[in-house]
Amino acid sequence: MKEPIRVTVTGPTGQIGYAILFRICSGAMFGADQPVKLTLLSRDNEKSKAALKGVMMELSDCAFPLLAEMRAETDLREAFRDCEAAILIGSRPRGPGMERADLLEGNAAIFCEQGRALNEVAARNVKVVVVGNPCNTNAWIAMKNAPSLDPSCFSALMRLDENRALSQLAEKTGMPVCSIQKMAVWGNHSPTMVPDVTATLVADKKAVDLVDGEWVKSEFRPTVAKRGGAIIKARGASSAASAASATIDHMYDWTNGTDGRWVIMAVPSDGSYGVPEGMVFGFPCTVTAEGKVEIVKDLELTDDVKVGIAKNIEELKKEQEAVAAFIPN
Ligand code: LMR
Repeated sequence: MKEPIRVTVTGPTGQIGYAILFRICSGAMFGADQPVKLTLLSRDNEKSKAALKGVMMELSDCAFPLLAEMRAETDLREAFRDCEAAILIGSRPRGPGMERADLLEGNAAIFCEQGRALNEVAARNVKVVVVGNPCNTNAWIAMKNAPSLDPSCFSALMRLDENRALSQLAEKTGMPVCSIQKMAVWGNHSPTMVPDVTATLVADKKAVDLVDGEWVKSEFRPTVAKRGGAIIKARGASSAASAASATIDHMYDWTNGTDGRWVIMAVPSDGSYGVPEGMVFGFPCTVTAEGKVEIVKDLELTDDVKVGIAKNIEELKKEQEAVAAFIPN
């Protein structure tokens, strides 16, 4: 049996939390032979603590063989002490009619504090994924407040956007999702993001030869980019199970490697494609067997993708300006 991996989850009693915890403990996130020691960060009030107690009772009732230890914490430093994987879900959620920008300030304080705590007490090779929106900027805030951790410890969830893009293209071409490779989604997890099929292959055929450009522009891109809002409208609440599932995919691939397969992760830019260094931006990436994330380089971008990337850079710069008070000098 492998040594257990220490995993901390924030927001464990929310809908995403409830959808993800059971899959983490069943082995879906880190592998079927990887035990976990789970720490759940609760808000420090009676209602949250009672709700978490109920979730923990259910986790216990599953008798997961891989769940080596489970505890609840209300103190950030205790919650993140020595953690090797931090799944940051807890944030102020977006409700009907709210834009992501409305969330910026409320969430900035949360991710500033969490970044500081991770900086002080997490394992030096911790893998952090931010799910709580606006996730790219929240991850950037946490990273900036954690100067003694390598920036490569931080990421934000854009796998949900990749999964949405895969499903839309699979449906359009009548081909299974597993036949599609090299899907790209660039930018911010917001309606500005750029889903891009320029390099995509469907059963080894170029996607651009299978679907027409007008469909890509007027249906595919907006459907993927605005899916989060469409789900909020339909459900009256933000996506939960699909967000949890994408987070599982994100961490599984980061931990186990992708063997050359592209995955979409929002990671601190290394300057590729003109994206300012450090900006947490969605890129096509591969992950080595050792867990090193590498941005796919030297892709030829179409003019409209270039324009879209520039728009995302501007949007993220504005988000960064709006939270400047939370960034240390
Ligand atoms: C989603 O893409 O479904 C969510 O991130 C939407 C949101 O803003 O909560």
